Amino acid sequence: MALEIRLSGVSVDYYPGTAWQTRALAGVNLLVGENEEIALLGPGGAGKSTLLRVMAGLLAPGKGQVLVPEGGRVALALQEPQRGFFAATAWEEVAFGPENFGLGAGEVEERVRWALSAVGLPEEKWSRSPFALSGGEQRRLALAAVLSMRPRFLLLDEPAAGLDAWGKRDLGRILRELVKKTGMTLVMTGHEVDFVFPLTRRVLVLARGRLAADTTWGRLGRDPVLLEQLGLELPTALRLLRRLAEKGAPVDPGQESLEGAIEEFRKLLG
Ligand SMILES: Nc1ncnc2c1ncn2[C@@H]1O[C@H](COP(=O)(O)OP(=O)(O)OP(=O)(O)O)[C@@H](O)[C@H]1O
Ligand SMILES: [Mg+2]
Repeated sequence: MALEIRLSGVSVDYYPGTAWQTRALAGVNLLVGENEEIALLGPGGAGKSTLLRVMAGLLAPGKGQVLVPEGGRVALALQEPQRGFFAATAWEEVAFGPENFGLGAGEVEERVRWALSAVGLPEEKWSRSPFALSGGEQRRLALAAVLSMRPRFLLLDEPAAGLDAWGKRDLGRILRELVKKTGMTLVMTGHEVDFVFPLTRRVLVLARGRLAADTTWGRLGRDPVLLEQLGLELPTALRLLRRLAEKGAPVDPGQESLEGAIEEFRKLLG
């Protein structure tokens, strides 16, 4: 049976029935299948983190239905990873998921080694407290902790936030390789579209809790009005293609991928 995450008419209110009631999601319909690479965009407070929590089955909506694959197949790495740490060492933090899944010691060890190596956390830090790691290392650790579950759906909330340029480049490479090797579905938020663009194809745009668009980078490149209205930007490559096209250059800013955009520039240079 095909695995999928299905949301129908999902609404979420924080503090319902009080003076602090805040609508975070409103009537969201969404189907996410296998082998998808999805960007979740939207201004601050649009409901991105809330939507990821619902998709991970961690937050039940006040209204609507959520169907999520069972058994650790959906994993969410939080926007502020340090908030979720509880173990005494990085190793134990990553081992917690597989251990609670009832896997044998050998299998747990293999998964922890694989996950910590995959994210490139240096081995001498594996026995440290998660709180004695740098912000960038904590992000890697949080990613390893969800990878050790071998999820089929990997949900990442702002994975590049707080990383330096090298850290971002490394993380981008790690994620690309993981997706290629495992075929898992990736859903990621990110205010830095240049990081998100090369890793995704489908684009969900949230605005005030509503799904304003379920589209692709190519379509947004051709028509970025929605993004502009929300104060969001196109990836630099598509933005440059649009500028060139406006000045009469024979280029198509409707490129679905970074490779496609680079090919447009190459053609222009002859
Ligand atoms: N734990 C919470 N308690 C009460 N209100 C919350 C809580 N978390 C989020 N909200 C509110 O719900 C709305 C959606 O928040 P959410 O964190 O999902 O947005 P976001 O798109 O992830 O924003 P950002 O880009 O800043 O991370 C906002 O109005 C926010 O203030
Ligand atoms: Mg958020």
